[in-house]
Amino acid sequence: MNTQTAYSAHPDRNLALELARVTEFAAMGAAAWIGRGDKIAADQAAVDALHYVLGSTPISGVVVSGEGTKDEAPKLHHGEEIGAGGPEVDIAIDPLEGTRLTAEGFPGAIAVIAAAKKGAMLAVGDSVPYMEKVATGPAYADLLDLDDPVGTVKRIAERKGSGTDQVTVVVLDRPRHAETIAAIRAAGARVKLILDGDILPVLLAADSDSAVDMLWGVGGTPETLIGSAACRCNGAQLLARFWPRSNEERATGAAEGLEMDRIYTAEELVGGDDVFFSCTGVTSGEIVKGVQFQDGEVRTESLTMRSRSGTIRRISGRHDLSKIDSLRSAAASQD
Ligand code: FBP
Repeated sequence: MNTQTAYSAHPDRNLALELARVTEFAAMGAAAWIGRGDKIAADQAAVDALHYVLGSTPISGVVVSGEGTKDEAPKLHHGEEIGAGGPEVDIAIDPLEGTRLTAEGFPGAIAVIAAAKKGAMLAVGDSVPYMEKVATGPAYADLLDLDDPVGTVKRIAERKGSGTDQVTVVVLDRPRHAETIAAIRAAGARVKLILDGDILPVLLAADSDSAVDMLWGVGGTPETLIGSAACRCNGAQLLARFWPRSNEERATGAAEGLEMDRIYTAEELVGGDDVFFSCTGVTSGEIVKGVQFQDGEVRTESLTMRSRSGTIRRISGRHDLSKIDSLRSAAASQD
């Protein structure tokens, strides 16, 4: 067999390391907007930067989940082919997860990307923008029940050999979650409310040093896909079901082949035996530090993961501010 052909068709090296460059640059783009009250500009800077570097990355990628449809997103729209040529991969991207966190200077914003073999990601589209999900780390992965978050909390406590007061559930602070938050608290567990950003909790839940045991709630569909990629890499588990807000969303989703009543596992959302993940902190958070501008340098921290090897790396970057500034200008002016 021609090795060149085999190489180009199958990812056989750790693309997560290449993807770290991509999320680093997106994070540096967004970081210029931290605390400046403009989440649209922050997001645009991240999109421009990510698009610019991903275009020169040695992959043949297709954006399965990105910035929306071709009509509404000139860059990183669903179906966009991107990369400088190489292994064929599906890509899911959130150039800036936590636009409001960035604009208002709150912790927990990241630039994030996931990749898997071509055809391995469920083409979620954006006709149903929300999914209901529950996720936890490897120690409790078999205990999850999407329809019974309180029961899941009790089973986690039992396995810990503790009371439910030793279980912490991360939930997005939204009115739609009020009833379940009350039920989880009534069961004795703790609820950690977050303003935005429900990908990082999947990483926190998988980290045995963190106080977080589980994520529950309705969040973005793209975030659910990327969270599933993270689970594939770190042994966590996620169960999710589409959460249509209207009969129209339900009908459109179903017409696109999405199963509205099915509970998808992380493996069903992001399949294949080689999944890659990279995130870089924009504002500081519990998993990665945010971008720091210091002494003519820009400092970044990233986390990369690969499912096949199970390798998790933390990468610190030091970048020359003047070079980054000229790259940023080039990225912003690229069509
Ligand atoms: P953005 O960074 O795109 O603003 O998304 C942040 C986020 O909090 C996600 O983490 C989450 O999945 C989704 O928004 C929740 O949506 P909504 O704010 O509409 O409840």
